[in-house]
Amino acid sequence: MTMLSLTINGRAVGPLDVRPDLSMNDFLRERLGMTGTKFGCGAAQCLSCAVIVDLDDGTSVTKPTCVAPALDFNKQKIRTVEGHAVNGVLTPLQLSFVEHFAFQCGYCTPGFLNEGQVLLERLEREKVAREDLERTIMEALDGHICRCSGYVKYHQAVRDVILADPSRFLTA
Ligand code: FES
Ligand code: FES
Repeated sequence: MTMLSLTINGRAVGPLDVRPDLSMNDFLRERLGMTGTKFGCGAAQCLSCAVIVDLDDGTSVTKPTCVAPALDFNKQKIRTVEGHAVNGVLTPLQLSFVEHFAFQCGYCTPGFLNEGQVLLERLEREKVAREDLERTIMEALDGHICRCSGYVKYHQAVRDVILADPSRFLTA
């Protein structure tokens, strides 16, 4: 056993004893009961299991949890799908997903939501031109697999949040 400490959705977790071969996905779902993070392909291919990792430089990335050992996340700050809404109030991105009915089975939704949130935060720091927006969203969501084929609706949902507040995300 090895000790694991990390921050999840702003809350300190651990130190907890974990086996070196315990995946981060199993740690979240089985050990902590945080089942919002899904398990899809189990091979780092679909990103339904991706969580947000907040880096020390103030940027964030998504990272799959299915094949990564939980210990890889030691001392890191992560956000999961459970951390988006505050006191039951959905974020603009969550509301947009609902308004677009962007999901069917919903299995891929936590990964898309995390990726979309990372993109919004990146665009707040580094705005893009309107003509580059479609490509920027496509590149950001690339790699997330939706078996129900909700790609267009996810794309539209992210785009609507950006276009609802263009001065925040787009260059003039
Ligand atoms: S379940 Fe992790 S990438 Fe598919
Ligand atoms: S909504 Fe079913 S996998 Fe995407």
